[in-house]
Amino acid sequence: MRTYIKDLKDSIGKEVIIKGWVNIRRDQGKMVFMDMRDFSGIVQCIVLPKSSAIETAKEVRTEWVLVITGIVNKRPEKNVKAGVLNGDIEIEIKNIEVLNKAETLPFDISSDTKEVNEDVRLKYRYLDLRSQRMQNNLRMRDKIISFFREYMHKNDFVEIETPIMMKGTPEGSREYVIPSRLHKGKFYVLPQSPQQFKQLSMVAGFEKYFQIARCMRDEDQRGDRQPEFTQLDFEMSFVEQEDVLSYTEAMFIELVKTLYPDKKFTKVPFPRFTSAEITKKYGTDKPDLRKNKNDANELAFAWITDFPMFEKKDDGSMAAAHHPFCSIKPEDKGKFMKGEDLFSIRANSYDLVLNGFELSSGSIRIHDRAEQKQVFKLLGISEEEQQKKFGHMLEAFTYGAPPHGGFAPGIDRIVMILQNEPNIREVIAYPKTGEGKDLMMDAPSEISEKQLKELGLEIKKKEK
Ligand code: AMO
Repeated sequence: MRTYIKDLKDSIGKEVIIKGWVNIRRDQGKMVFMDMRDFSGIVQCIVLPKSSAIETAKEVRTEWVLVITGIVNKRPEKNVKAGVLNGDIEIEIKNIEVLNKAETLPFDISSDTKEVNEDVRLKYRYLDLRSQRMQNNLRMRDKIISFFREYMHKNDFVEIETPIMMKGTPEGSREYVIPSRLHKGKFYVLPQSPQQFKQLSMVAGFEKYFQIARCMRDEDQRGDRQPEFTQLDFEMSFVEQEDVLSYTEAMFIELVKTLYPDKKFTKVPFPRFTSAEITKKYGTDKPDLRKNKNDANELAFAWITDFPMFEKKDDGSMAAAHHPFCSIKPEDKGKFMKGEDLFSIRANSYDLVLNGFELSSGSIRIHDRAEQKQVFKLLGISEEEQQKKFGHMLEAFTYGAPPHGGFAPGIDRIVMILQNEPNIREVIAYPKTGEGKDLMMDAPSEISEKQLKELGLEIKKKEK
């Protein structure tokens, strides 16, 4: 029977079997010391000169995979390390079975790997992830996601999986496309977010939807952006803005109190600003409102509301500032219906910011066909295009669509901030580089002539 390293303290004086990796090994001539590591922790082991395992112990190197049989002993008082897991015990090794050997690793994983060249870390991500900090980041990520799932379920939300292969969501970013073999010349796209599906799930009568949702966007990378990322996507029916804000605020406060009790809030309730106010005051719509920016435990949440509905893109064309499904503030409805003074029209939209990062965006949506058509019209989308791109939404709104609204906190950014990491790659198991590459698998990569042919595609050779 295998004992996990975290449970060894319950077996003092007994013989145990542990399995894992050699974290560190010190050959002291007559004796060999080695720290063994499994998923649950590290323990110091010692091979005495008279042990029949001494020959094998001398051969063993770091990162070999071993089965160790030994006796759990209390450490002599002077060697006790207080406050460390297994700091007061050690294993006296009786037998070593080698399950697998390991080449010398390309970098040291027994300490923080942050200083190692990131391309090397990403190429050997499965080794980087063995390090304690990365293990901790991903295990905390799992705890955060589990917390959200449980919180949502406790509040009557249902998790619905929406398609990964879909038709475009016009949310402003470039989409990744998937060629169709059965329908040559046609393409699916990967979702930028499940926006339309979550709204259609409200028309479907679920009332409270959520999803730990993967989103894909073909945009330039930054420290807080990846081509693939995860949202806690949710939507509620029969709600107003205040309902979404107070639900979300209570959830974040409970998350921090439960999983990060050492962290403190700059202000509770979270302060609220309109987009116009905040931009005037701070010159940005995601200000860092911490009192002490060097305090890793300070969390300054803030709400920003009333964003403009429309904006001008760099090429001069009109676009929806958030997305075209946001409803219009009642005060601005007159201008909206007349199509006047478009850039002064505000949406029922809101952001949650934390320590200078945009954590989440959302809005109360349109559920009326005529209002939705007016947005498309003001965006310069012709009747024909509206039918082609959004016919399903416009039609759904004619079959008893309830008022609804939602939100989509970015999980990667939340974990990054709570774990005090400088970028989201540190909290994503297998992230892409700044150029959107997976260095471990070497993606993107070419596909075979046969696949191209099946898909009806031809690659235009780069002109020299
Ligand atoms: P939005 O596009 O603002 O809204 O995204 C919501 C949140 O998702 C996170 N996020 C990202 N995280 C990592 N890498 C990226 N490339 C990236 N892009 C966005 C951010 C952001 O605040 N459907 C709407 C939400 C809604 O209206 O309910 C949406 O996706 O934390």
